Amino acid sequence: MTNRILLTLALLLAGLALAGELPAGPGAELVFAKCQICHDLTYPLQNAGLSEDEWASTVDDMIDYGAPIDEEERSVIVEYLATYLGPNPPPAEEGAEGGKAAAESNVDGAAAYAANCAGCHQAAGQGVPGAFPPLKKNPVLAKDASYPALVALFGLQGKLEAGGATYNSAMPPLGQLDDATIAAIVNHVLQTFNEDLLPKDFKPLDAATVAELRKQALNPQQVLELRAKLLDSK
Ligand code: HEC
Ligand code: HEC
Repeated sequence: MTNRILLTLALLLAGLALAGELPAGPGAELVFAKCQICHDLTYPLQNAGLSEDEWASTVDDMIDYGAPIDEEERSVIVEYLATYLGPNPPPAEEGAEGGKAAAESNVDGAAAYAANCAGCHQAAGQGVPGAFPPLKKNPVLAKDASYPALVALFGLQGKLEAGGATYNSAMPPLGQLDDATIAAIVNHVLQTFNEDLLPKDFKPLDAATVAELRKQALNPQQVLELRAKLLDSK
């Protein structure tokens, strides 16, 4: 129970979308009602990724602490936690936001990339050495899907190295693109150009997460600082 709070930058950033919010699904109301009697939902949300057994034993600990949860409620809660805050949560699209999700998935990431990014980064993401960095086989992008989303939202400026070449230039912010389009472009860049570098548990970026990132209102230099931090994290 102790070594669970291993938060990587990736989780921190991904967690922005979740802060204070439970994914919709059967049992969410019960968790909402029962799990913030003694503390808020930060504990359960921060522990996302636990297995069913681990959640069951956590819930039993809470019952020991005095959580008023009966047998039937216990199984609904454990089922919910193991599914929606478990190792393999379903995409957030499901449930209440179903309609919006359907619209999102209609955004063609390849076409949006071609229209908005390929002019500089080239059709296959290979870039132009010295002028436009490659988005293909670029490990820093695969480290955290939030990073390319932040670059698209807020631009990037300053010196960086990618694919063995140095760049010291600026990319304009493309924040006029909507959240779903940015998510689709980032997913295209990651899943098509960086497929081999993605972690096994890679989850495609969704529009809700882009909306949260947009609130950060960074400038292009700050995005470059974030890049450096990402490279420092293992
Ligand atoms: C009766 C009070 C109470 C209720 C209700 C309660 N908790 Fe807790 N919870 C605690 C206490 C006490 C801790 C220990 C940490 C602390 O003291 O801040 C804790 C810690 C946690 C932690 C941190 C990791 C750990 O195990 O220490 C998680 C995760 C957690 N609770 C999840 C839940 C979930 C999920 C529910 C709803 C099923 C819930 N809690 C309901 C009292 C409660
Ligand atoms: C007008 C040209 C231009 C367009 C259009 C453009 N970029 Fe860029 N992009 C650049 C330049 C130049 C850099 C390098 C900036 C620097 O040197 O600091 C860059 C850097 C990046 C990086 C950082 C690469 C790294 O190694 O950290 C990402 C990610 C990126 N662009 C994604 C995109 C995406 C996604 C789009 C389309 C939504 C896009 N770019 C559109 C010019 C462009």
